Amino acid sequence: MVNKSWSRPGRLIAFEGPDGCGKSTQAKIFFDLLHNKKKIMLTEPTQSGLGRWIRKELSNKRDQLSNMELQLLFIANRREYMDEVERKLDDGYDIVMDRFTPGTIVYGAAKGLGMKRMIELNKRAGIIDPYVIFYLKIPVEDAMARLSKRTGKKRERFEDLKTQRVVHRNYDRLARMQKEWWVRVDGSGSIKETASSVRAVWDKISKRA
Ligand SMILES: Nc1ncnc2c1ncn2[C@@H]1O[C@H](COP(=O)(O)OP(=O)(O)OP(=O)(O)O)[C@@H](O)[C@H]1O
Ligand SMILES: [Mg+2]
Repeated sequence: MVNKSWSRPGRLIAFEGPDGCGKSTQAKIFFDLLHNKKKIMLTEPTQSGLGRWIRKELSNKRDQLSNMELQLLFIANRREYMDEVERKLDDGYDIVMDRFTPGTIVYGAAKGLGMKRMIELNKRAGIIDPYVIFYLKIPVEDAMARLSKRTGKKRERFEDLKTQRVVHRNYDRLARMQKEWWVRVDGSGSIKETASSVRAVWDKISKRA
């Protein structure tokens, strides 16, 4: 349930799952309730030049970059903040991530790049494994319905039903491959219900730590 080889005073806590599963909503609630005064919240893609490039590419009507180029941009964007994140973790900060490495692996693999290869690329770039990943699990139709209700946001590159079905399956596969630090949480209930499920798991994990 948590990364047993974790040796830092601070913890890297990631919220993950397919588009529309509630990552941003739950990461924010979790962050606000986190007791540690030393805490930071980060969202991927970031606000840097690379992050803006990624956002632009995701919402472009026509793809400018190949899928591999896009995934490498995600890794480069992650690389930009990695040193600082490691310093903060060593200094006792808890870092809450709205999206992290799994996206690159799962979306890359959904477009034929291979899961093991994407895991390897992140490793080679020196991206660390997190302390825990909260994987918000919801049926693909519910996630799509939430996305289409969201106002003021157009569909992005991967947000079609066919791709999302593969993405959901890949998340399940990756959760099984890295089960040491993945926790599946039912994200299909209300925002409040999901937040208390996350909380209950966290209370257990923090007590044990
Ligand atoms: N448990 C829930 N029940 C109903 N609606 C929800 C729930 N959680 C989030 N929502 C709504 O669904 C939409 C998607 O949620 P959110 O933005 O948190 O998901 P996300 O996983 O961050 O999406 P994305 O992958 O696009 O970043 C938002 O409009 C949000 O208000
Ligand atoms: Mg989000």
